[in-house]
Amino acid sequence: MTSVEATPQLARGGLFALGLAAVRFRNPWTKTYTETKERVINLEEVTWHDNANDCWIIIYDRVYDITKFLQQHPGGMDVLLENAGRDVTLAFRGTGHSSAAVDALQKYYIGRLPWSECIYRKPGGIILSNLPE
Ligand code: HEM
Repeated sequence: MTSVEATPQLARGGLFALGLAAVRFRNPWTKTYTETKERVINLEEVTWHDNANDCWIIIYDRVYDITKFLQQHPGGMDVLLENAGRDVTLAFRGTGHSSAAVDALQKYYIGRLPWSECIYRKPGGIILSNLPE
């Protein structure tokens, strides 16, 4: 039963997988990560910068020193301090920040997580289309 009836289905499944793989490798819009010389900061280090005088956060595997931005944040200082020394990617996304807010991040960028701790970016991996640079 398995071999005769399942064969066309398996073949179709195989062809579909091949098609997906082809799109993955031929898609001109697919960018991949390469090694760079950015400063690498691990999660443990970030956790020490968790107060109003020294505040780091992580968004999309990137580390930002926002100490000087705390007072300027249109959403207030408290929401930032609640997340000081931690990953705020989902909070940042969830509050629907504008592209101007995303661009503003660059000013505070100080480094990235080691690849072993990254969950959004990987060397050789696909860059999600909605991930800010
Ligand atoms: C460095 C990181 C951040 C930057 C550069 C930033 C920037 C901004 C900017 C420019 C706005 C004005 C509206 C807009 O343009 O989208 C804003 C609003 C806001 N942000 Fe942030 N933000 C950051 C992190 C966060 C985080 C982590 C949270 C939540 C935990 C948050 C919560 C809010 C809220 C609730 C507002 C709305 C304020 C209102 O409309 O009254 N922000 N932010």
